[in-house]
Amino acid sequence: MISAGEFVQKSLGLHLFFLRIMKEHSIFLEAGFVPKDQALAWSAEMFKNEFNQLLEQAVELANDNVSGEVLGSGEVVTVNTVAAEEKTKELTGIDIDLALSKKELRLRPGRGNPSLEAKIERFNLIAMQQTKSLIDFKTLLLEKILECNLFAFNFPLLIEHLREEAMFYLERLEKLQERRKTAPRQKIIEEKVFWDHIMAEHAMFISHLLDPSEKTLITQADNFARVFTQLEQQVKRLEKTGKANRMLRELFNEELKATRDIRDFKSKGGQLILACQVRSIINPLLADHVLREANHFLNELEHLKV
Ligand SMILES: [Fe+2]
Ligand SMILES: [Fe+2]
Repeated sequence: MISAGEFVQKSLGLHLFFLRIMKEHSIFLEAGFVPKDQALAWSAEMFKNEFNQLLEQAVELANDNVSGEVLGSGEVVTVNTVAAEEKTKELTGIDIDLALSKKELRLRPGRGNPSLEAKIERFNLIAMQQTKSLIDFKTLLLEKILECNLFAFNFPLLIEHLREEAMFYLERLEKLQERRKTAPRQKIIEEKVFWDHIMAEHAMFISHLLDPSEKTLITQADNFARVFTQLEQQVKRLEKTGKANRMLRELFNEELKATRDIRDFKSKGGQLILACQVRSIINPLLADHVLREANHFLNELEHLKV
């Protein structure tokens, strides 16, 4: 069982990362519809607003109640988030709350205040409910696209990917609500299987959203896709065979290196996109978003003991 303080701190850390992720998924969906599907774009806009409100509340609660590791990892906001939001707002016409991101840059760390336990428990329930609705929306879109009843400028695999991330958030919250502590080995394996898969898909998306003339970047992205697909398969094999922790440790070191490399690649790519030096259909906020997801995974890896 985790303590009340830990429950508060872990819940808020998770929300700061994932509520923003959910809000941005809504923005990416909204930006991908054609004029005919204005009603779907409105639904996405509503999700964006609702997640923005939840994030606002989480930010209020998080001051002095969230770990320094989370705040320092670059998973909540990066140095480029505000600029990426500003540019994406200008390019898409979608309203984005820049003031909230600036507020997040000023958040102070602290141990979770145990007296907030009941309040956080209620907040978690609301976030879970809202995330379930977003999962349903993503499922609806995916089905329509796969049945060829909807055309959107988001790949089906991307929508599936956004849905998987929402489901992962939901599972994490369900576990937290039960105050359950996962065994370290199990936790490492679960996180690795999930995030290896996510990192591999990011690399594939980057490769496909770059202009075909960007050959060097495409090759680099394809290499990352290969590396993370292999890492995912290796850890799955290890999980099946129950092999020794020594092997997990070796794999873990490979993982750290690969994740730092993809983090650097995304960080550089994001800066180039912001500086208008890459030909692509990647909006600056998407570039910053996938960087934050790599930062989150790296933070998890760096603080897990094998
Ligand atoms: Fe995402
Ligand atoms: Fe992602």
